[in-house]
Amino acid sequence: MKALVTGAAGFIGSTLSESLLQHGYEVKGVDCFTRHYDEETKRANLAVAMRDEHYEFLELDLSRADLGTAVDNVDVVFHLAAQPGIRGSWDRRFAEYVQHNILATQRLLEECVGSAIGRFVYASSSSVYGDHAEYPVLEEQLPRPHSPYGVTKLAGEQLCGVYDENFGVPTVALRYFTVYGPRQRPDMAIHRVIESVIAGERFELFGTGDQIRDFTFVGDVVRATRLAAEVPRDTAATVMNIGGGSAVKMNELLEMIGVSLGRPVKVARLAEQAGDVRRTEASIERARAMLGWKPEVDLQAGIAAQVEWHLRRRDGR
Ligand SMILES: NC(=O)c1ccc[n+]([C@@H]2O[C@H](COP(=O)([O-])OP(=O)(O)OC[C@H]3O[C@@H](n4cnc5c(N)ncnc54)[C@H](O)[C@@H]3O)[C@@H](O)[C@H]2O)c1
Repeated sequence: MKALVTGAAGFIGSTLSESLLQHGYEVKGVDCFTRHYDEETKRANLAVAMRDEHYEFLELDLSRADLGTAVDNVDVVFHLAAQPGIRGSWDRRFAEYVQHNILATQRLLEECVGSAIGRFVYASSSSVYGDHAEYPVLEEQLPRPHSPYGVTKLAGEQLCGVYDENFGVPTVALRYFTVYGPRQRPDMAIHRVIESVIAGERFELFGTGDQIRDFTFVGDVVRATRLAAEVPRDTAATVMNIGGGSAVKMNELLEMIGVSLGRPVKVARLAEQAGDVRRTEASIERARAMLGWKPEVDLQAGIAAQVEWHLRRRDGR
């Protein structure tokens, strides 16, 4: 099997690529090193896969480049390339979200029309939901994004549906819920908390800390993503929540990280940010039924793995 992984130098894309290689896939990785965070970190993410003879890497921007041969001889597309981050998606910066999340997705789907692709797996997000009256959220609930980022991720998901219905591109959209673990993006909360404790600085917490997040370990996300390409597809249910089953308040999370590092987290409390939702919590019954998937790494074990990664990185190991 040959897989195309977009966003291959990113947090999840690089971890997915390595897992696919371990499962016998040939992998073509694509990334354009957007400046959302530094290129050096992304190059380091790629290092393990690059040493594998079954891995090839193409530096190209899906929103602009000629994609002529991108999906040639590819059996499965895993489309993870995106401009992530909720708080940065306001004002003029929205243009980048449109470019990398909507336009890039549409261009890649267009390339898949008439190709031999067996599955197109799209990395969607819990941010398509916004705030709801009832939790855990089910896939049937009406998406009501609360941020411009969520709007663009939902647009990408809907483009998948449009190309599926009109041209038979076999898409599956996975709504990931706050992913964490080794290589987590430097703008994400757990990464920032751990780095602030190691540096002896205060962690800047937005809001009261009572907001709830469903944290999902990257290894679990990667397994669900691979399975979404491998199991038979139910065309009536091509959208799935991928949540970790560890919905906790931010304040509880801070305590857990403090325990893991053996030092309490010092917090500077700041105002809630526009775009942040009160709560995310996934119903994962559909993924359980369709993929035979459930999360395996609990939050304490996942945090320990991420802490270990931060410490190793600091030591240059
Ligand atoms: N990390 C999470 O908690 C989370 C949650 C929900 C959904 N997601 C989705 O999962 C995917 C991966 O997220 P991540 O956290 O690994 O982000 P990331 O920023 O680490 O990785 C995304 C990669 O895509 C690349 N990219 C962006 N635009 C591109 C383009 N036009 N052409 C080629 N490459 C491009 C970037 O350079 C980056 O390396 C994204 O689609 C994101 O929206 C992530």
